[in-house]
Amino acid sequence: MEVREGKGRGRLPTGRGRKNERRLGQERKRVREGDWEGRGGAGGGERAREKREKPHLFCLSRQNSTGFAPLLLKSPLDLAMTIISHLLELVLLVEVIVYGGTLKVEALSMGYYAMQCPMADIIVRNTVIGALRKDPTLSGPLLRMHFHDCFVEGCDGSILIDSTKDNKAEKDSPANLSLRGYEVIDQAKKGLENQCPGIVSCADILAMAARDAVFWAGGPFYEIPKGRKDGRRSKIEDTINLPPPFFNSSDLINMFGKHGFNVQELVALSGGHTLGVARCSSFKNRLSKFDSTHDVDPTLDSSLAKALSKTCSAGDNTEVSFDPTRTTFDNAYYNALRSGRGLLISDQTLYVSPRTQAIVNAYAMNPAIFFLDFQQAMIKMGLLEVKEDDKGEIRQDCRRIN
Ligand code: HEM
Repeated sequence: MEVREGKGRGRLPTGRGRKNERRLGQERKRVREGDWEGRGGAGGGERAREKREKPHLFCLSRQNSTGFAPLLLKSPLDLAMTIISHLLELVLLVEVIVYGGTLKVEALSMGYYAMQCPMADIIVRNTVIGALRKDPTLSGPLLRMHFHDCFVEGCDGSILIDSTKDNKAEKDSPANLSLRGYEVIDQAKKGLENQCPGIVSCADILAMAARDAVFWAGGPFYEIPKGRKDGRRSKIEDTINLPPPFFNSSDLINMFGKHGFNVQELVALSGGHTLGVARCSSFKNRLSKFDSTHDVDPTLDSSLAKALSKTCSAGDNTEVSFDPTRTTFDNAYYNALRSGRGLLISDQTLYVSPRTQAIVNAYAMNPAIFFLDFQQAMIKMGLLEVKEDDKGEIRQDCRRIN
């Protein structure tokens, strides 16, 4: 399977970054207000048409001024030629928009469901938004579920499969016991099966749900290619491929490197911890009897360590936010790391290690850079070992292989 990198990864200059953030803010407001079609929605129709027409006019005058196209059309043949040339331009433009600057796997595409299930994106979005309106804390679990799906057997919905009497599935591994939000995926699948039975895979639904959860929480919007097939294997032992919370930066660089991610992508993806919580069992080893020379992990801020010890006296399942804004996708996570307030060893190590510290600093100082890197890394993660054609299936029920 070929995975092709797009064009160079430009950094957003601060000014453009701010403009981008403002645009995203407006977009997000529309989404929250229920105008999911956004640019194409009822209210936006006129504006969208205007926007579509402007480049056309611009093209004509640009061509005229440089002499590539005649200013006055002398005959019907001229007119036909001009129309054809503009149509070709349009085709090229659409190709660039759809494929340019993104990763592409052969059989996956942005418009994969355009013919057979054009409402797929909208059905998933509406389901996710409905669920997040009722419980905003679900954004973290939905994002984490997609990560845990992709790192085990590729992005194939294997995390969604229930155990049977003959098979202990991934979701019953200790690493996955605190995952939640499966019912959101089930509900989206139900809606999709009503509209277009047997077309949309559970793996795609999960990838779309994670994307929508990130955006709804205030993060970047990124479009994802679709066409993943659902896997037929889900085994508890495969979850050995998930990173444990005690990994240091070298372990993380190694593990993420095996999946094709560079150091920067590792740090960007770890920013997923801007959402959600960890339970005390995931970090309590830092609070006492840490190692032979320290009772408390010396990289953990001492006042936070005291507060955590108190909180965790309530039990291993007590939840603590990764950063002060649990349901908001922002760069507060990286700021926390800079003040020794990373919850897991695998979080704080990103600031402690000289190999990753500069990237943490950059994301802490400039959220636009974090957003851009995060969205690109998420698109890449969503393409991990995807199954195509007869390597997988479209599950009827996300919890069971067909
Ligand atoms: C870098 C290696 C990573 C490690 C070691 C790690 C480990 C963990 C652990 C231990 C928890 C808490 C589990 C619990 O106590 O219940 C957690 C939660 C979470 N992880 Fe990660 N993770 C990593 C990377 C990622 C990535 C790449 C993402 C997404 C892009 C992600 C998204 C999340 C989210 C959103 C939560 C909160 C879930 C909730 O609120 O229920 N993690 N992670």
